[in-house]
Amino acid sequence: MLKIHNLSVEVKDKKILKDLNLTINDGEVHVIMGPNGTGKSTLSKVIMRDDNFTVTKGTIKYNDKDILSLTTDEVARLGIFLAMQYPISIEGVSNADMLKSALTIRGEKNINLFKFITELENAYDELNFDKSTIHSSINEGFSGGERKKNEIIGMKILKPSFIILDEIDSGVDVDNLKVISSNILKYKNESNASLLIITHYPHILNYIKPDYVHIMKDGNIVKTGTSHLADEILKEGYEASIMKEDL
Ligand SMILES: Nc1ncnc2c1ncn2[C@@H]1O[C@H](COP(=O)(O)OP(=O)(O)OP(=O)(O)O)[C@@H](O)[C@H]1O
Ligand SMILES: [Mg+2]
Repeated sequence: MLKIHNLSVEVKDKKILKDLNLTINDGEVHVIMGPNGTGKSTLSKVIMRDDNFTVTKGTIKYNDKDILSLTTDEVARLGIFLAMQYPISIEGVSNADMLKSALTIRGEKNINLFKFITELENAYDELNFDKSTIHSSINEGFSGGERKKNEIIGMKILKPSFIILDEIDSGVDVDNLKVISSNILKYKNESNASLLIITHYPHILNYIKPDYVHIMKDGNIVKTGTSHLADEILKEGYEASIMKEDL
C-alpha cells in the first residue's frame, strides 16, 4: 500500500504540491488527470526521490516504509517503477546491459544469461518491438512512441509491485496503445501490482479499468470519481467537471 499524507513539495522556491493526500491499496488502479503544470509528474518524481524537488511537509509510505528517507535506487528496489513522461536516451548503455545490471544490483546474483535474453526477446515480441535494438544504446534514435514501448519492456523485466505510468499513452498510435495496454493489463493480472496512471485521455481506460479517477489541480487532488469522471473530463473539460456535483 502506498500512503501519501499532507505532501507539500517545492522546486526552486515554487510551491508545486500542496497538502496532497492519496492512498493506493495493493492491486488498485488509480488515475490522475489534470491541467498541464499542475504537479502530476512532480508527484511521480517525488515518489521516485528525484532530488530536484524539496519536500517541505508530509509523508510517503510504501508498505509502512518511509519513502522520503530513501534514495531512488532504494525506492526502485522496493518494487516501485516509473515509466517516465519523457524517457531519455543514454548513449553507450544498452537496454540489455541496463536491465541485467538492475536485476544484479537488486540481488539476483546468478542470472542465467540465456534465460534473461530469452525473456527479454519475448518482451520485445509481445510489444511488437524490433529485437535488433536489444543491444543498442537505450532509446537512441527511438521515436516518442518507441520510447514509451521501451518503458514497458523495462516493466516486464523488472517486475515491480507498484507501477507509475506518466502519460504512457502520449504520442502513441491507436494500435500501439492497444499493445501497450494489453501488456500492462496482463502483467497487472499476473502480479496484482498497483497502478498509478497519469493521463490526459480516457482511451487507455477502455483497456485498463480504474478503481478511482482523481482530478489534480494546483498541486492537490480536488475531485475523485470512477471511470465516468474521465469521460466527463474529455467531454466538458476540467473546470466544468470539478464544479459538477459528485457522480
Ligand atoms: N525542475 C523544475 N524547475 C522549475 N520548475 C519546475 C521543475 N519541474 C517542474 N516544475 C514546475 O512545476 C510545475 C508542475 O510541473 P509538472 O511537470 O509536475 O506538471 P504536470 O502536471 O505533469 O504537467 P503536464 O500535464 O504538462 O505533464 C510546472 O509549473 C513546472 O514548470
Ligand atoms: Mg507531466
